[in-house]
Amino acid sequence: MSDGGAVNDGGAGNSMVPWRQATEAALYGPDGFFVRPDTEQPGGPAAHFRTSVHASPLLARAVLRLVEWVDEGLGRPDRLVVCDVGAGRGELLAALAQLTDGTELGARLELRAVERAARPDGLPDAIAWGAEIEPLPHGLLFANEWLDNVPVDVAELADDGEDDEDGGDGVPRYLLVDPATGEEQPGPGLTPEDAAWLAAQYPDLPPGGRAELGLPRDRAWSEAVAALGRGLAVTADYAHTRDARPPFGTLTGYRNGRQVAPLPDGSCDLTAHVALDSCLDAAARTNPRVTHSLWTTQRAALRALGVSGARPPLALASSDPTGYLRALSAAGEAAELIAVGGLGSFLWGAQAVDMEIPVGWQTLCP
Ligand SMILES: C[S@@+](CC[C@H](N)C(=O)[O-])C[C@H]1O[C@@H](n2cnc3c(N)ncnc32)[C@H](O)[C@@H]1O
Repeated sequence: MSDGGAVNDGGAGNSMVPWRQATEAALYGPDGFFVRPDTEQPGGPAAHFRTSVHASPLLARAVLRLVEWVDEGLGRPDRLVVCDVGAGRGELLAALAQLTDGTELGARLELRAVERAARPDGLPDAIAWGAEIEPLPHGLLFANEWLDNVPVDVAELADDGEDDEDGGDGVPRYLLVDPATGEEQPGPGLTPEDAAWLAAQYPDLPPGGRAELGLPRDRAWSEAVAALGRGLAVTADYAHTRDARPPFGTLTGYRNGRQVAPLPDGSCDLTAHVALDSCLDAAARTNPRVTHSLWTTQRAALRALGVSGARPPLALASSDPTGYLRALSAAGEAAELIAVGGLGSFLWGAQAVDMEIPVGWQTLCP
């Protein structure tokens, strides 16, 4: 369905399109939300939402620790690539460049941003910028809040009491949307491959239930992991797994820092939670070099990387007041990154390619 054209609604005059097509145009089309110049949108897309990267420089420090783990696990290769997929404006890589400047590791690091938006002004020259994931012989591929922005179609299980051949109760259909108003209407039945994905991932979708169809994300993640020669691929996102799929969908919008109804007109971010286990399974199924997979909460992943949120000892306040205040502020930022019900409840998925899961995360393995 995803590549189909507009569907005429039979007379009302508006064009209804599948959600994936509408989202693709709204986020990445000409003048799309993520790709239009920041001069047309003060603060860029980041003015509309807050990711862990924006929340605190502690995230970059934790990722540096992860880079060190991967480096060690790969036997300190001459060249280690850190590839940030869906890099936004390159904030994470810029922080890593600064943290490793002048170090032995920094001299071996190659920092690459993969992003559909243009390279921002003022980014350090050391950071390469491109729209495609190039092969990484040795490295860490990291994707924070990328997959939730990979456009997907939405299916709804009819609950109209009818059961005719066009689809009544129990028959999933694509939802179509009017990009100007956000109004929805049921469209055609699913293609066999989307129907198979839905049946496998949402076996208990109730009548009237809806689900975002994750095949494009399974494929995007599998392709990303396939680019790794040896190393670790990590994705962090709003996500769910088979034991807790949301039965009524998660598609939503963000505008000016507020959650809003999803309107695919380019005025807001459009995001839907990621079926993380499906992505990991797809990559492992299609890539025999994936040796280990794990998923866990951001809270657990970051705590293992040294982000604690513990307040500094009160005694520091008198011996080093400035240091105390700095440590207190860092503790507050750490607490935000690992907060249950907030960023800490994001899920991290990790897949090791031709290496072990780093020792520090092995206790998190299922
Ligand atoms: C929510 S932002 C996250 C930015 C950054 N990683 C952060 O955590 O702040 C998602 C980004 O992914 C980018 N993106 C989405 N699909 C992409 C693709 N297929 N290739 C490269 N970038 C993509 C978007 O342009 C957007 O900048």
